[in-house]
Amino acid sequence: MEHGAVEAAAALLARARRVVVFTGAGMSAESGVPTFRDALTGLWHRYDPQSLATPQAFAADPDLVWGWYEWRRSAVRRARPNAGHLAVAAIEAHVPQPLVVTQNVDDLHERAGSPDPVHLHGSLFAPRCCACAHPAPAGADADEPAGGRRLPPPRCVRCCAPVRPGVVWFGEALPQAALDTAATAAADCDVLLTVGTSALVYPAAEIPRTAARAGAAVVQVNPGPTPLDPVATLNLRGPAAEVLPAVVGAAWPD
Ligand code: APR
Repeated sequence: MEHGAVEAAAALLARARRVVVFTGAGMSAESGVPTFRDALTGLWHRYDPQSLATPQAFAADPDLVWGWYEWRRSAVRRARPNAGHLAVAAIEAHVPQPLVVTQNVDDLHERAGSPDPVHLHGSLFAPRCCACAHPAPAGADADEPAGGRRLPPPRCVRCCAPVRPGVVWFGEALPQAALDTAATAAADCDVLLTVGTSALVYPAAEIPRTAARAGAAVVQVNPGPTPLDPVATLNLRGPAAEVLPAVVGAAWPD
C-alpha cells in the first residue's frame, strides 16, 4: 500500500461534504463471507451461479435454491464485520452527507454501525413471497451443516406460495428506489470511494462511472486491477480491512 496514495485519499475525504462509499464482495472477503463464486462448494459445486441465482432456477427446484441461500445466510450470521466495515462507518460519522451503497446481500455494514446502507442487490435477510411479494420473516438461525442441504422454502402466510430470497437474481431489475437513490447521490458527490468490486455487473457498475462523469474524485480500494482503474483518481492497491483504516486514521487523526 503506497503511503502517498493513502494520504491523498485521506485529504480528499477530510475536505469532502458529500461522499458515496460503493462496495462489493471484496469488502466482506476478510470477514470470511464466501463470495458468490466461492459459495458454490459442497452440495452446490456442480452448479454455476447463473443456474442457482435466477427466477427460473427457483421455479424449477425451489428446495435447491432456498437451501443454497439459507446456507449463505447462516455463513453470514457467523461472520463478523471487519476493520474495513468499521472504517466505512467511521467515514459516515465524520462526513456531513455520506451514503453507503452496497452490492452485497450480507448485513455486515449494518452490524458495523452504518445506519442505512442502500442494498442494490437486495438482502439475505428480507425474504418475500414469490407470488404476492408479502414480506416473510427471515427465519430462525439455521444451524446449517458445513456443506449445506436442500431445504423446502416456507409458505407465504397470505397466499401460500413459496417464499423466495429477497435478493436480485440474474435477469431481474434492481429495486428502483435503491438505484435512484444511489445514482442521484453519485451524480452529486465530491468523492466516490469504491471498495472491493470488480465493477463488471451492470447497472450497479454504472454508479462510480456516474460520479466520475459528474466530476467527483473516484478513489478505488482493491488488491487487483479492475475496469475502473482508468476512471479512478486514486487507486489504492490492497485489502479493504488494511487500506480503509489507514485512510480513516490519516483523514481524522484523534
Ligand atoms: N479487499 C478489497 N477488495 C477485494 C478483497 C479485499 N480483501 N478481496 C478481493 N477483492 C476484490 C477482487 O479483486 C474483485 O475485484 O473484490 C472484487 C470482487 O469482485 P466480484 O466477486 O465480481 O464481486 P462484486 O463486484 O461485488 O460483484 C457484483 O455480481 O456476483 C454478482 O450479484 C453479485 O453483487 C454481486 C455482483
